[in-house]
Amino acid sequence: MKVDGKDMRPIWFDAETKTIKVIDQRFLPHKFVVAELKSVDDFIRAIKDMYVRGAPLIGAAGAFGVYTAVSQNRDKRCNNEYLIKECKRLKAARPTAVNLSWGVDKVLDHVLKSNSYDEKLAAALEKASFIVEKEAENCRQIGIHGYPLIEKISRQKNGRPVNILTHCNAGWLACIEYGTATAPVYTAFDRGIDIHVWVDETRPLNQGSRLTAWELGKYKIPHTIITDNAGGHIMQHGMVDMVIVGTDRTTRTGDVANKIGTYLKALAAKHNNIPFYVALPSTTFDWQIRDGLKEIPIEKRDPGEISHVQGLSPDKKLVNVLIPPEDSQCENYAFDVTPADLVTGFITERGICSASEKDILSLFPEKNPG
Ligand code: MRU
Repeated sequence: MKVDGKDMRPIWFDAETKTIKVIDQRFLPHKFVVAELKSVDDFIRAIKDMYVRGAPLIGAAGAFGVYTAVSQNRDKRCNNEYLIKECKRLKAARPTAVNLSWGVDKVLDHVLKSNSYDEKLAAALEKASFIVEKEAENCRQIGIHGYPLIEKISRQKNGRPVNILTHCNAGWLACIEYGTATAPVYTAFDRGIDIHVWVDETRPLNQGSRLTAWELGKYKIPHTIITDNAGGHIMQHGMVDMVIVGTDRTTRTGDVANKIGTYLKALAAKHNNIPFYVALPSTTFDWQIRDGLKEIPIEKRDPGEISHVQGLSPDKKLVNVLIPPEDSQCENYAFDVTPADLVTGFITERGICSASEKDILSLFPEKNPG
């Protein structure tokens, strides 16, 4: 996507240094910082500390992490046992987004088929780059399939602005291009639909107010940041036509793990008869599990993310300030699970389906063991 006229992705292979570079999202929107990831430890830190975040991007980072594990291993003749161990460490960096282990395993499987160091290195780079391009294309397709939903509302409203609420950042910063939840928004905007996005600030790390607002602003898409608790109120007052969110892991039965607070938005949407869509590439389905509440691991993060808030001081320095009493306890659940019955439908790269196993499998019949 373009940032100030320049083509940008959140992760890329730098052919000159032969290393991976990422936008360090911890500092957006106030500082644009690029980080170079040169070792598996760099990747683990970048994923854990959220220089890179968002399910498809974590998957891409995991894939490039395997390339880096190989490239750092010239002396050891790229022993397979060592590689498998490094991949285990990469996969443990964050637990909820299934894309991470998917991306790591896809590249590892490919690499293990090669013998020499040079072959392994070439195989890792080829597969990781393929995954990145495929995810970009998946998101483009999500935009194409999601567009008619927005266009229909626009027609029903005789061209008046379509108000879409989103939570967290499921934009290109979280993917490679276009985003998942934002892909239909970008497509609709490009095709001239009058659109406005309600952006949940998404406490505690403010992915909405920091990242989604930055992305939409750069694209000149009208948007308004609201507190996470405002969603129910604006839904009751007819100010939301549709909700679109992303997901970190969705079961084959349609239960959706996404950023903490998504479940409350789904409940409020159901109560107000507002369509609640989840946009995802097929890489975010966990085909092995059926019960989201019992089987999706929910990450708990550093309580310091709740007690402290980052922002820009009047003298333009990024500062962290303490909000609650110093000795109060905080508990930081990073994700929650929205049960399938609260989801109107999934927008995938193959089209739209309802949140039932039968319908999901009709789009992805190769995942049906029968
Ligand atoms: O903790 P984060 O910022 O990695 O969480 C990201 C989300 O919850 C996104 O909504 C999800 O990954 C979908 S991204 C296309």
